[in-house]
Amino acid sequence: MKFAVIGHPIKHSLSPLMHHANFKALQTDDEYTALHIDPKHFHHLRDIIHEKAIDGFNITIPYKVDMLQVVDVVDTKAQMIGAINTVHIKDGVWYGYNTDGAGFKASIEEHIGGKNIVVLGAGGASRAICYTLFKDNKVTVLNRNCNRVADWPFQIDAYKYEESDVIIQQADIVINTTPVGMEGFMSETLIDIAQLKSSAVVCDIIYTPDTTPILQSAAQRGLKIINGLDMFVNQGALSYEIWTGKQANKAAMKQAVINHL
Ligand code: ATR
Repeated sequence: MKFAVIGHPIKHSLSPLMHHANFKALQTDDEYTALHIDPKHFHHLRDIIHEKAIDGFNITIPYKVDMLQVVDVVDTKAQMIGAINTVHIKDGVWYGYNTDGAGFKASIEEHIGGKNIVVLGAGGASRAICYTLFKDNKVTVLNRNCNRVADWPFQIDAYKYEESDVIIQQADIVINTTPVGMEGFMSETLIDIAQLKSSAVVCDIIYTPDTTPILQSAAQRGLKIINGLDMFVNQGALSYEIWTGKQANKAAMKQAVINHL
């Protein structure tokens, strides 16, 4: 089968390398390519994909939200998350899914259930994670702008960082979904790590670099930390499972990414 990841820019995507490791482990001759789609060609996407006989593809920045208008059928989870990261084409019909939230959830499965979870940021990644966790946990968003959660089709409390002391003190899990920690932001953390319980788990969805200021501060305090690598692997594995109905070899996928980094 033929798969791809589309985006703009796309050349830094590790998805082809990761999926090829899976194909090799499963001994299939599937293919997976990175496809740069210039914004001025996005409205031709269906023709481009059809011409390349692609069976399924992933979507990255900046097209996850726009993709809702392109597919024929939107899965409920993707609708609630407001973004599509996986398209499966079956008999010419385009089905849209979102595996980002479920990918993250799988990466912290052993820590969740009835927990106080604090999510930093209120963008697309935050919405995917909040939607996947809010039914079984108490989820609170911290963001500079609390209005961003107002139009989500599920109810999440949001506070500003300045009014978050008690929320931080009660948190069991903190998840950073903001770009704070990526290059250019290196020295900042948005919350005071010293206020967290000693049993708290701190996560960042970033995996390049493999550690970020918030994870470093948490590790220095001896807290359990989790970066975004497993989320990335899990979302890819879930996409593969949607496309093929087969289980992906997640260990091979993860090792390929680690070897590259
Ligand atoms: P993504 O789709 O990857 O989640 P996004 O939609 O651009 O990205 O969302 C990024 C989030 O990081 C936003 O919640 C943003 O805060 P605002 O909603 O207040 O803009 C947050 N963010 C970005 N830069 C930040 C910074 N320097 N400090 C704090 N939060 C920041």
